[in-house]
Amino acid sequence: SSALPSGYSIRPLQRGDFDFGFLDVLRVLTHVGDVSKEDFEKRWDEMKAGAGGYHVLVILDGEEKIVGTGALIVERKFIHHLGVVGHIEDIAVSKDQQGKKLGLRIIQALDFVAENTGCYKTILDCSEANEGFYVKCGFKRAALEMAHYY
Ligand code: ACO
Repeated sequence: SSALPSGYSIRPLQRGDFDFGFLDVLRVLTHVGDVSKEDFEKRWDEMKAGAGGYHVLVILDGEEKIVGTGALIVERKFIHHLGVVGHIEDIAVSKDQQGKKLGLRIIQALDFVAENTGCYKTILDCSEANEGFYVKCGFKRAALEMAHYY
């Protein structure tokens, strides 16, 4: 089936989600740092001010606690006849909620948004350890990531 577990729901991130455990879910993924509610809301406002390029989704459990998240950034190009490319970023599912297909549902929802926004492809970076997850989500190994840290 392609449904979430009973009682769970998926929706876009909201400005009030700081209070529902959003950053704690991201801490499963990586270092988040000391981000205040004001900092969170300022960043949320900046994302909203763009040309609709940010789509951050959250999954809530039956108790309205955020247990999963993922983002699609829609990049508008000049090449490929003004092509549009989706970038999947920051996928995280709470440790105690992993293995319930929540990650898969997040990717499916982001894929749906990407296709409906006109993206001709969606790409992402991941570790070797997560390759199998993305293969199950329909992705295939395609390129090499380069990084320059400042
Ligand atoms: N390797 C191989 N297969 C995997 C892996 C893995 N690391 N993780 C899940 N799978 C498989 C599952 O077994 C399942 O297979 P099935 O359909 O045969 O049963 C399928 O992939 C779907 O798994 P889900 O239950 O949807 O996975 P989950 O909800 O646990 O989420 C995730 C996976 C997001 C990787 C989660 O483990 C997590 O949050 N990890 C820590 C943070 C992280 O690494 N995030 C990804 C970073 S990359 C990025 O953000 C672009």
